[in-house]
Amino acid sequence: MSKVIAISNQKGGVGKTTTAINLSSGLAYMGKKVLLVDLDAQGNATQGLAALSHRGQLSIHNALLEKEPIEHVIVHKQEPPIDIVPANIMLAGADLELDKIGNGKEQVLKQTLAPVRDQYDYIIIDCPPSLGILNTNALTAADSVLIPVQCEYYALEGVTQLLLTIRLVQQLYNPDLRIEGILMTMFDIRTKLSVEVSQDVRQNFGKQVYQTSIPRNIKLSEAPSRGMSIFEYDVSSSGAKAYGDLTKELIKRNERG
Ligand SMILES: Nc1ncnc2c1ncn2[C@@H]1O[C@H](COP(=O)(O)OP(=O)(O)O)[C@@H](O)[C@H]1O
Ligand SMILES: [Mg+2]
Repeated sequence: MSKVIAISNQKGGVGKTTTAINLSSGLAYMGKKVLLVDLDAQGNATQGLAALSHRGQLSIHNALLEKEPIEHVIVHKQEPPIDIVPANIMLAGADLELDKIGNGKEQVLKQTLAPVRDQYDYIIIDCPPSLGILNTNALTAADSVLIPVQCEYYALEGVTQLLLTIRLVQQLYNPDLRIEGILMTMFDIRTKLSVEVSQDVRQNFGKQVYQTSIPRNIKLSEAPSRGMSIFEYDVSSSGAKAYGDLTKELIKRNERG
């Protein structure tokens, strides 16, 4: 049984892409078959894993809007051992192009992924920093949403907004959509604010919040410039330990009982 998880938060810079890359890699090193779908025109997940190598290479845009079979777009990586659907700046106009489709425009990603869905244990979607039609496509294609929350002052407001969007998508397009979990990112034990925000989010969302928090760790921000996940870049770093723990926690939640 494959599981599709959208990593979503309309705020930029909260750790979506870092989580998408390192959770995908963590799952792969735990023996899972993983597809990482880059759904952001900035292509940060694609670049962070050096998955777009030449000009004119096919990307998610071709699959979503030009009917290119998804199999032709997928890039197979050795390290980390995952498959990737890359994105590039072509995707910047996708919101408008999807809008033109009219009826069924929310279902395009779901249909695009359908032919390969069963080949994977986990499909991880790295969402753009907006609540536009691309994000709606991700939430419609997904079984669940993982929400990274940066330990900073306005964190809760962003989550409340996202939860409203999730409820709307549940009502309109995807009644089975679940919350996978809420992940505290860029946690700094030395700052009072980090600790307070984390406590606040845990009080509000209880067990939905992962026990694992991701610490602020410079290695996590360096790894993408080498085209590596944290597990190749520095497996002994606090970032690698945290994403390893998150991976185990997620598998445990999904595969018990
Ligand atoms: N735990 C962390 N520690 C240090 N830097 C981080 C951490 N998580 C993310 N970053 C850095 O913060 C920036 C934003 O993270 P990113 O994952 O790209 O967020 P998003 O995809 O939500 O925009 C990036 O430069 C990234 O390398
Ligand atoms: Mg991103």
